[in-house]
Amino acid sequence: MSGAVPSQAAKAPLGGGVSVGSETFSFAPWSSGHRAAIEHALSRWVVAQAPGGLGEAMRYAVLDGGKRLRPLLVMAASEAVDGNPVAALRAACAVELIHAYSLVHDDMPCMDNDVLRRGKPTVHVKYGQALALLAGDALQALAFELLTPEGDEVPGVQQAALCRLLARAAGHAGMAGGQAIDLASIGRSLSEEELRQMHRLKTGALLQGSVMMGAACGTPDRRAADALSAYGAAMGLAFQVVDDVLDVTADSGTLGKTAGKDAAADKPTYVSLLGLDRSRAYAQELLQQARTALAGSGLEDTRALLALAAMVVNRDN
Ligand code: IPE
Ligand code: IPE
Ligand code: MG
Ligand code: MG
Ligand code: MG
Repeated sequence: MSGAVPSQAAKAPLGGGVSVGSETFSFAPWSSGHRAAIEHALSRWVVAQAPGGLGEAMRYAVLDGGKRLRPLLVMAASEAVDGNPVAALRAACAVELIHAYSLVHDDMPCMDNDVLRRGKPTVHVKYGQALALLAGDALQALAFELLTPEGDEVPGVQQAALCRLLARAAGHAGMAGGQAIDLASIGRSLSEEELRQMHRLKTGALLQGSVMMGAACGTPDRRAADALSAYGAAMGLAFQVVDDVLDVTADSGTLGKTAGKDAAADKPTYVSLLGLDRSRAYAQELLQQARTALAGSGLEDTRALLALAAMVVNRDN
């Protein structure tokens, strides 16, 4: 698992490409180049040679799909603070592994009971529930293995900081905790504050954690770290607000997952609470908050982060 990850020919740009700013920065080549490196590293690190079909199920869960938004946030934040690129690529892949595991478990019959993910049958449909459970477990463990390489390319203090951030974002005070609230909220109507808290945890925490892990690949000053944290919080919440909207407005083919599931499962969402127009307006308000945070960061180059925030809010899948 050690060593530099070779580059690979760029794949199609993410989300059709969003161009921002000056003649020297365009989001499409930036994202496609990083995405190719991420795909290549994931393919290399998630090995097929695990027993009992586990490796195959893990690779199925991780490869060939997904927008790779969280890894791109890690890379963008790391570049904004002039971070260690070796640590950043490992952190980017680690976050994506946690995300992929969360999707495998989220889709299982005991949770959302979904049969389609990233345009393919879900992992439990293809491999059975027991292997889906184990694939999620093993992906979570592999994420932390990626963050703790031997050798001196990623200093021990940086490894520990990255592990801490990822554990917090994924665990009881982050994604897993939010998922527990989600399950406990079926058939209930939540207040806006309760819904915001659920979304912040189940989805926002991992997105904000991605940004903070990118920041931890460098040594930002307090002002920049606080600004990145605020940016990540706004953008993380916006992401789930938009996910709620897309569940109502998009079709399954575009989403790569079954549309209309939230209402069918009687889940409280931003759309059920505020309606479509106010939910969309709230996502735009959060985008503005993210931009304002970056504007006050004192960081020299936040163009990739700005483009990613716009992509989160204006995406169609
Ligand atoms: C879907 O996340 C799950 C949520 C947190 C809402 P993404 O929309 O980022 O899924 P992929 O990775 O692109 O498949
Ligand atoms: C899932 O939220 C968040 C996770 C932690 C996986 P959803 O249940 O709304 O995500 P989708 O719509 O299935 O992707
Ligand atoms: Mg869910
Ligand atoms: Mg779901
Ligand atoms: Mg959803």
